[in-house]
Amino acid sequence: MELFDVYPLYEVTPVSAKGIVVTDDKGQDYLDFYGGHAVISIGHSHPHYVNRLKDQLDKIGFYSNSIQNPLQVELARKLGEQSDCEQYNLFMCSSGAEANENALKMASFETGKARVIAFNNSFHGRTSAAVAATDNPKINAPINQQQKVTFLPFNDTEALTREIEKGDVCTVILEAVQGVGGLDEPSTEFYSTIETLCKKHKVILIADEVQSGFGRTGKFFGFQHHGITPDIITIAKGMGNGFPVGGVLIHEDIKASYGLLGTTFGGNHLACAASMAVLEVLEKEGLIENAKHMEGYFRSLAAAIPQIKRVKGRGLMLGLEFDFEVADLRKRLIHNQHLFTGGAKNKYVLRILPALNITKKDLDVFFEALKAEL
Ligand SMILES: Cc1ncc(COP(=O)(O)O)c(C=O)c1O
Repeated sequence: MELFDVYPLYEVTPVSAKGIVVTDDKGQDYLDFYGGHAVISIGHSHPHYVNRLKDQLDKIGFYSNSIQNPLQVELARKLGEQSDCEQYNLFMCSSGAEANENALKMASFETGKARVIAFNNSFHGRTSAAVAATDNPKINAPINQQQKVTFLPFNDTEALTREIEKGDVCTVILEAVQGVGGLDEPSTEFYSTIETLCKKHKVILIADEVQSGFGRTGKFFGFQHHGITPDIITIAKGMGNGFPVGGVLIHEDIKASYGLLGTTFGGNHLACAASMAVLEVLEKEGLIENAKHMEGYFRSLAAAIPQIKRVKGRGLMLGLEFDFEVADLRKRLIHNQHLFTGGAKNKYVLRILPALNITKKDLDVFFEALKAEL
């Protein structure tokens, strides 16, 4: 059997990693400024994370959601406290798409309606309703196109009002800072309009924090920069620092019933241990604060490079916009400078998504390497 060939791959074979350093099979070190699509939040192989997972594996790695699992309860409590979201309940799953799929389903259950409002350039995952709410026709198969989704531009209050007033919308779903799309974000004023309209018309507001959550933007959640209260929040990626874990935070006003949602793998013992370790390290090492500080330093270094047209994003969810497409620059950064960076749907944006414990020295290295390739 061979692999189903869907990924264009770089010629790099990592065999070990520590902090932001990834080492390949030839012994070459690479600095990871991409975290495998924003997944590595506390650094590769963080000792506390490794020990927590090893200890858990020695005890019990998995059982399904038919028994008591105090780790889930402990995780929900700690997550609620640390994120200042104690008025939500947690449903655990295993990926970002699964989190959004369940969030969209909950919105539809709760309102009895089916149409979704999403935004231009959104990315919410590759499953049924999540991919339909993703603004990319190329990854939507005919079976996905049965979903009712309307895409709107950010900050167009008139269009949003017009659509919501039609009365058939179950949810508005948005990323606080768009990841795959290229780091665009709605204004605080537009966020507050969305919140008001959703409340008025009984529409569920879903904050997709799969990429922007867990401290990446310099606050625990990206929407917290705008002072709003979503009905549902979805999480994954940085939540597990590489272990596949996701979650849906559902406001306590929305009631659960047995069988409403479910999953085999979600919330297993290892997943809980991974996510607890991430929360513990974020707290103990002050990594959300660090993300905020590093953004300032990043912006000051970027300002000195004339080829950079704009710095987009927040915290350590950042993008550098150029007036040329960045695919070739990314290749040169990997092969000549041994640096991982990311691309976006916006081909002019180089995405930077490092672990939240990077230092000024790491950023100095990054910008020197970047200058050498410009
Ligand atoms: C904002 C956002 N939502 C959802 C997803 C889907 O997550 P996953 O790939 O874990 O299914 C992604 C992945 O890039 C994402 O960036």
